[in-house]
Amino acid sequence: MSSLSSFVRLSNDSTTIIFDCQGRMPKVIYYGALLSDTTTPEMLNVLNTRQEAKCAPVNEPPISLVPTHGEGWTGQPGLEVFGNADQWSAGFTLCEANQTDNSVEFVGEDTHRSMRLITFVELDNLTSIVKFFSRLENIGSEALNLNYLNAASLPLPATMTKIKTFEGRWSAEFQTQDHDLFFGSYVRENRRGKTSHDTFPGLIAFPQHTGELDGECYGFHLGASANHKLRAELMADGRSYVQFGELLFPGEIVLQAGESYTTPVLYTGFGSKGFSSLSRQFHNFIRENILTHTAESKPRPVHYNTWEGIYFDHNEDTLKALADKVAPLGIERFVLDDGWFKGRRHDKAGLGDWFVDKAIYPQGLDGLIDHVTGLGMEFGIWFEPEMVNPDSDLYRAHPEWALQTQNNPHVPFRNQYVLDLTNPEVVAYLYKVITDVLKAYPKISYIKWDMNRDVNHPGNLQGQPAMHGQTAALYSLIDRVKAAHPGIEIESCCSGGGRVDLGILPHTDRFWTSDSNDALDRLYIQRGFSYFFPSEVMGAHVGPRDCHITGRHLPIEIRAAVAMFGHMGIEMDPRELTEHEQKVLTNAISLYKQYRHLTHLGDLYRMDDDGLNVKFGYVSKDKTEGLFAYNSVKETLRTTPTRFYFAGLDANKQYTLERIWPEKLKEYTPSILQQTEGQIFSGEVLMNYGMQLPVLFPQTALIYAVKAI
Ligand code: DGJ
Repeated sequence: MSSLSSFVRLSNDSTTIIFDCQGRMPKVIYYGALLSDTTTPEMLNVLNTRQEAKCAPVNEPPISLVPTHGEGWTGQPGLEVFGNADQWSAGFTLCEANQTDNSVEFVGEDTHRSMRLITFVELDNLTSIVKFFSRLENIGSEALNLNYLNAASLPLPATMTKIKTFEGRWSAEFQTQDHDLFFGSYVRENRRGKTSHDTFPGLIAFPQHTGELDGECYGFHLGASANHKLRAELMADGRSYVQFGELLFPGEIVLQAGESYTTPVLYTGFGSKGFSSLSRQFHNFIRENILTHTAESKPRPVHYNTWEGIYFDHNEDTLKALADKVAPLGIERFVLDDGWFKGRRHDKAGLGDWFVDKAIYPQGLDGLIDHVTGLGMEFGIWFEPEMVNPDSDLYRAHPEWALQTQNNPHVPFRNQYVLDLTNPEVVAYLYKVITDVLKAYPKISYIKWDMNRDVNHPGNLQGQPAMHGQTAALYSLIDRVKAAHPGIEIESCCSGGGRVDLGILPHTDRFWTSDSNDALDRLYIQRGFSYFFPSEVMGAHVGPRDCHITGRHLPIEIRAAVAMFGHMGIEMDPRELTEHEQKVLTNAISLYKQYRHLTHLGDLYRMDDDGLNVKFGYVSKDKTEGLFAYNSVKETLRTTPTRFYFAGLDANKQYTLERIWPEKLKEYTPSILQQTEGQIFSGEVLMNYGMQLPVLFPQTALIYAVKAI
């Protein structure tokens, strides 16, 4: 139903968002905790009134959902467009607001310039998550060049004076940084053609004193799997806003008459009890709305991934021996990584030739697959469909299938180029070779879909920038493979966590979080990841004793404890495991299975970071069970470490406390821990009084199971 009132209000049981539609286009005037009916939008409107200041506009141009030149906006425009007349100065007038219970579609038109601008807003029914995206339609007869359209621009409440951002590199993704909002713009632009390891498209805005368990905050994440830009600006007039959108190359989007462009979705959330409460909003939302394979429908099986075990050294007998070794540990899915296809003896050749290499597997993969499944494990296989090695039959036949720009040499990157998925012939080839493998081996139930380079020259055959089309084609290729093989699960991998976002997750099932299997680094990577994503999609493997990436030597106890809290797996040569390591791993895997319903369905409570240790817990929705981890990373600076607060329990319940990890402590005063064994504690005391932690060797993890009686 289209109607035009001054305000639009969407509410669920916890959250309200209100739009002021009195100007030319709508702007958010409230987003946060549920407002009672006694608060009217008119009240907010009056309270928002700003005085005309000297040498300033009488009324500042609004931070509308897509601020435009036409509105006189002097910040970063939400729309940059040009044509052969004055399209650059587009300004829209709201003509429809189509509202349902939990959504609204604002339609604005610039009839003079023949453009329609639509912004969709949807408030989730159960959480504070709101989805925003925008669309520009060319309703004229002349072509329009679109340089940028934001998914949304959103004002920040004046109390949000800080931002938490996410940066990193290969093997060290999701490192958090806190910054004060400053006069000017915090801007991150990503042109890598993948979500990237270094510039995650998300941030959290918060006031000075918000911590993990207290205080308000807002989270923003753009579901974009390629190029993107984000901005948080504090303006000279004192207002601040965030803005997210896809980053387009010049000429990338040309809208002919009747065509339109739609942005990726911006997901926003509000947390009233600290950063952890915001994360719980995102986790619940993702569990309810995004994941097709839920932890309820099928517990996440423990993986064995061959990569760090054998790399390219494929041999059927060796692989069968690995399967024999890992099955008794409790492994439930065996993933054959890179190296199984034609010519792939190293990373210099083979990508593109997705045919089982008969030199390695003369009889095909049946022997190995039957062996693995005969041991009770599922079978998964690795592909990197978007890539081609110049040394491949595919490239020799079709050099023109690689993205490239004329007269610019390829930027060398892992000996491979990127295929042009905007070319339908390329997609048809990829669809065929992937589904041929799946048809030939119907027992394959899992694909690790990798992507291992930047897209430095995203030019297609026509010489056009193609990243937007490339990403759409990727999503659609994955969907078609899934539709042709219902039930197949797909992991999004990109040299580890280079493509972790809510653009690709609706098409896939889990992420490979990072190539670093170093448990200490992983504690921080996984912590950063957990701000937006739940643990069941966080691939987490127990790596080799001496980490292949950092060289760090870590005991099996901490390696296993850290992997247990994600979607657990192991990735090493299991023939090298000592008896002790085998025993510890078997126990860890069995604990993972015992508690995965908690970590994959429960509520996450991170505790504040003190730079010395990483602490968190998962509590069941009914608060009858919890699993808490204390990971000591560095030596304590005081003679004894601090206390551990079991956050998120029910103050009125009584709980037993059981230390389930490690089985045997190496520290010299384990006695203190025994004080708690077999005792009953109130939720109140566990949460608020806390437990004195013992002196531990650094790099020790303690895990407690808490159960209501
Ligand atoms: C990068 C991935 O992140 C690794 O796990 C592995 O699959 C390699 N690619 C294989 O080339």
